[in-house]
Amino acid sequence: MMPQDANFQGNVFGGTIMKLVDEIAGSVAAIHSRKNCVTASMDQMNFYEPVIIGNLLILKASVNYVSHTSMEVGVRIEARDLMKDEITHTGSSYLTLVALDENRKPTIVADIIPETDAEKRRYAEAKERRARRLAAAGKN
Ligand SMILES: CC(C)(COP(=O)(O)OP(=O)(O)OC[C@H]1O[C@@H](n2cnc3c(N)ncnc32)[C@H](O)[C@@H]1OP(=O)(O)O)[C@@H](O)C(=O)NCCC(=O)NCCS
Repeated sequence: MMPQDANFQGNVFGGTIMKLVDEIAGSVAAIHSRKNCVTASMDQMNFYEPVIIGNLLILKASVNYVSHTSMEVGVRIEARDLMKDEITHTGSSYLTLVALDENRKPTIVADIIPETDAEKRRYAEAKERRARRLAAAGKN
């Protein structure tokens, strides 16, 4: 993270991180679906620790769940202090990306098959989050 990423307190501006989170979620969704994807929603964004200018920002993202045309992508945000070689988990978020066809209409996405215990846990938790999310958005 560079000085131009700072807020007026000198740490990294949260909006800068949210933009990167949205970008990686869109990339992961496009890689899975091989379609153009748009962000339908971003769940509550939690920042546990500030990210400091000079930290290396590490974003880890995975498709946790596929419904029909939408996918939940989970993003984990880490900051690496290059001097101390310490990595801190600074935030997380879940986003819903929708795949669009050439007419910009939602289109079916290939399902994912969770294999490892962690993937199965993420899949089950994402399915529950989807139900809560759509209910909160008045979509169910
Ligand atoms: C996202 C969007 C394509 C959904 O269109 P829609 O006409 O509501 O389409 P549908 O009702 O068929 O829903 C499509 C999928 O989106 C999901 N969805 C719609 N609104 C959602 C929301 N607020 N949160 C989570 N998922 C949502 C639906 O559950 C459905 O998923 P499924 O097919 O896997 O069951 C449309 O609202 C849109 O284009 N929004 C703008 C997206 C954008 O431009 N984002 C960038 C920020 S400016």
